[in-house]
Amino acid sequence: MSAVKSTSHESTGHQRRLHPLPLRIMHWINAIAIFIMIGSGWKIYNDDVILGWLHFPEQIVIGKWAQYGLQWHFFGMWILVLNGLAYLTYGIVTGRFRRKLFPLSLREILATMNDALHFRLAHDDLTRYNAVQKILYLGIMAVGVLIVISGLALWKPVQFSELAALFGSFQTIRVVHFLCMSAIVAFLLVHITLALLVPQSLVAMITGGPAVDGGAAPAAGPTR
Ligand code: HEM
Repeated sequence: MSAVKSTSHESTGHQRRLHPLPLRIMHWINAIAIFIMIGSGWKIYNDDVILGWLHFPEQIVIGKWAQYGLQWHFFGMWILVLNGLAYLTYGIVTGRFRRKLFPLSLREILATMNDALHFRLAHDDLTRYNAVQKILYLGIMAVGVLIVISGLALWKPVQFSELAALFGSFQTIRVVHFLCMSAIVAFLLVHITLALLVPQSLVAMITGGPAVDGGAAPAAGPTR
């Protein structure tokens, strides 16, 4: 009896929220930074378009003139990079990425995609990401790194000349930067739609969600 008691006490000591406070703060700072970057990036793009038919409407861009758009872009850039580095460090050091995003097998990916195509994807367990979520989150982190690297090469092509040379031409860097932006917008359409379709996941990203033991299974009890 006493053994059971002490075990339950121990596990209570290790309980934490599904989404710990630092993670939530970084997630929402990142969301604000990304919206600033996309809105101001569209303003800058309109000044010298890559696709002749594509101009972003003035109502959805940030910055009255391209110069203002640039200033917003540089402002958002610092927030995105510093916050992004903090998030990556946190995810690696605390083992969150290892716990939540791995292992990831081809078999699991195919099974989850099959479930998704048959509208059978289970959303009831917030504590585990399915294979599609794991791929989306890992993919968006890779895109985030590439958009920052290509942005650096666009911003300082002389100082980062070796980096810029890896892409070939200046126009190629612009296209890579643009494609990364498009991937982020596509991710956000899916990500925000899923968050609205499964509102408890959105609530959890705001409040912290259920208490979990060591970041895996949900459990009742006091939380931080
Ligand atoms: C209004 C905008 C956003 C909303 C409403 C939103 C909502 C959410 C929600 C509800 C979760 C938890 C997902 C779950 O439990 O399945 C989540 C996680 C996540 N979101 Fe967002 N998000 C937004 C913007 C972004 C942006 C801009 C990015 C990156 C470009 C992003 C990247 C992520 C990542 C990587 C995770 C996983 C975090 C982890 O568990 O370590 N989100 N988001």
